[in-house]
Amino acid sequence: MARPAFVVFSLLLFAIPLEAAWILKKNTYVVDIDMSRQERLGQTVILKCDTTEEQINTNIHWEKKSNHHKPNSESWVKVGHGTELRVHVKDFPDAGNYTCRNQKREVLHYIVLLINEIVDVRGTNSKQILKEHPGTKKFINCEAKTYSGDFTCSWQIPKEGHEEMFVLQAEGGLRNVNCSHPALDPDRSVYTTNCQELGVCLHGEESQRVALVLHAIRGKRYENATTAFFIRNIVKPDPPQNLSISPSTERSIVLHWHYPESWNTQHTFFPLTFKVKVEETGKTQRKNTHNHQSGRRKRSKERAQYYDVEGTSLTLEQWNAGKTYCVQARDRYGASSWSDWSTCKHSMHQEKPRRLKSSLASKGTW
Ligand SMILES: *[C@@H]1O[C@H](CO)[C@@H](O)[C@H](O)[C@H]1NC(C)=O
Ligand SMILES: *[C@@H]1O[C@H](CO)[C@@H](O)[C@H](O)[C@H]1NC(C)=O
Ligand SMILES: *[C@@H]1O[C@H](CO)[C@@H](O)[C@H](O)[C@H]1NC(C)=O
Ligand SMILES: *[C@@H]1O[C@H](CO)[C@@H](O)[C@H](O)[C@H]1NC(C)=O
Repeated sequence: MARPAFVVFSLLLFAIPLEAAWILKKNTYVVDIDMSRQERLGQTVILKCDTTEEQINTNIHWEKKSNHHKPNSESWVKVGHGTELRVHVKDFPDAGNYTCRNQKREVLHYIVLLINEIVDVRGTNSKQILKEHPGTKKFINCEAKTYSGDFTCSWQIPKEGHEEMFVLQAEGGLRNVNCSHPALDPDRSVYTTNCQELGVCLHGEESQRVALVLHAIRGKRYENATTAFFIRNIVKPDPPQNLSISPSTERSIVLHWHYPESWNTQHTFFPLTFKVKVEETGKTQRKNTHNHQSGRRKRSKERAQYYDVEGTSLTLEQWNAGKTYCVQARDRYGASSWSDWSTCKHSMHQEKPRRLKSSLASKGTW
């Protein structure tokens, strides 16, 4: 009878010491600090050496790495004795790896304290590890190629410096999502993770958002960012494939294309809609080189025609021959993004060159 009460009591005792810090993962705790106050109060954290009964009776002491004296050399410094250590955390030097050891200096346990600067010295809560996307004001951008439950999230960092990052489902999130270990791109500025919803319900209406938390650690600094979304709002299909052009009758040409292969959901349940661009050949290249110029100039130069199509073919009048064609796709019913443009195709022109030749020839005879 006395046992359960004792268990609850000791759990409470255990919970109290780190209340000023919260657990991020095994052996790692985060202390939230407001750096803006003149007299920074900091937080007092009591660390417990979580070790066996036998070891508790040995002469336990705590050590912490310090590079205080010589900036480029690290050494372990004794910071206390006993199974408990009271640490006052005010600034980054107070954070780090606190290791408890026995008399023989064997490691019994360690606790890493990280600092989350919730307000910095200037009174703002700007982040240093994670970079806000200038356009969207968001830290994390997620995209799905389809409704299958797979999606990709990415985020930027201002400069690389050996971060540790992981993405988890937000606490209380009702959708079961699993994300891979984030990978840094070769330019070392964008991280990407591939996520998968387990037990995805394809034909049901999405009523709960996917809610994710990105945890970022660099040295003793911790930051997080959250995102929540419906898959239907982040769908961006791959471009349509196999665009081809063929003459239909003497007066028309036909464009054909396929759904992107990655749109691996039933086309009848998840139809796409398409947009076809018809442009003078050569315009595309010129426009690409002027990409960074003002929008006004771009618009005035562009003389493309756009056609909205629900199916996977489009019949055009013959006068459209000899141009460049591209097609893009979007989920027909969701309010999500257009795909990138497909590989553009130029049509084989048969009529005009012949006429040109004959007119030159007739000129020659004159
Ligand atoms: C903390 O220090 C202990 C003892 O040196 C070591 O075993 C442990 O791997 C360190 N942990 C981290 C996360 O640095
Ligand atoms: C989550 O994904 C990892 C690999 O990315 C896999 O090893 C693990 O089994 C997955 N977890 C679940 C619950 O599916
Ligand atoms: C993100 O950081 C804030 C501030 O430290 C913290 O209160 C919050 O719990 C963290 N979010 C998650 C999901 O851990
Ligand atoms: C589309 O083209 C690819 C090669 O680019 C080919 O492998 C694929 O079979 C084509 N798809 C169809 C449906 O013809």
